[in-house]
Amino acid sequence: MTETNGDIAIDLKDVTYQIGDRTILNGITFTIRRGEIMCIIGLSGSGKTSLLHCIGALDHVTKGEIWIDGTQIVGMNEKQLNLVREKMGMVFQYAALFDSLTVFENVAFGIRRRRNLPEDEIRRLVTEKLALSAVPGTESLLPAQLSGGMSKRVGLARALAMEPGILLYDEPTSGLDPVVATVIDDLIVDMREKLKVTSVVVSHNIQSVFRTADSVAMIHEGKLIAVGTVDEIKNSENPIVQQFIQGKAEGPIELTRR
Ligand SMILES: Nc1ncnc2c1ncn2[C@@H]1O[C@H](COP(=O)(O)OP(=O)(O)O)[C@@H](O)[C@H]1O
Ligand SMILES: [Mg+2]
Repeated sequence: MTETNGDIAIDLKDVTYQIGDRTILNGITFTIRRGEIMCIIGLSGSGKTSLLHCIGALDHVTKGEIWIDGTQIVGMNEKQLNLVREKMGMVFQYAALFDSLTVFENVAFGIRRRRNLPEDEIRRLVTEKLALSAVPGTESLLPAQLSGGMSKRVGLARALAMEPGILLYDEPTSGLDPVVATVIDDLIVDMREKLKVTSVVVSHNIQSVFRTADSVAMIHEGKLIAVGTVDEIKNSENPIVQQFIQGKAEGPIELTRR
């Protein structure tokens, strides 16, 4: 079950995901190269989060193949999937921190559960990940004491804790003002530079996408309608893509953005 192309971090082949008789994702095929920032765009409800969850092995696809680091994960059992999940850090749309735990314990949570490390090593890892995420020294704070932007950064630190090769971000800038959103965008690029991680970023913030992406995939009603570099997407002849990136209310699709 392995492939030899070392340049490819994630390979999706005909990925189809159904819930009951609803088809959420339909025949999605594309490749994400190692070290690249791939942004997934599309309207609300188009299937972006579902796609991210399928890549992250949180949802189980109905049909198709998902290759992570040269290993096909569709059909794996839970024990095998847990090993694959450890390669991927997930930054959720709403920071999803545990309210009653300090920042330190939130970031240490996955390490404590999955690795048997001495306390001083856990402390070292947490301090390092908080610094990388530009929220150093926040260990003793509770989530309620953090601003929206800080919560997202602590969420990133938690995703980094297991030192994953792949980072999956769901709407990392949603709900943030434009200045703070730019800080998060810069951090996403920073992670790629410093850690050489592969990043998949779900976003409907087209400015963020153009600032950060190496490639872009657009999902529309569960189907992949465009994939390519930022320039290729900007020059796409697909009217749905053009309407989305220009943010026009009038066009072939009803633009409902949050
Ligand atoms: N657990 C679920 N049960 C039924 N429908 C779902 C479920 N999760 C998502 N969906 C549906 O799948 C579609 C895609 O959802 P989602 O992946 O969250 O889209 P996006 O992240 O692009 O907003 C939506 O129509 C949504 O209502
Ligand atoms: Mg979503």
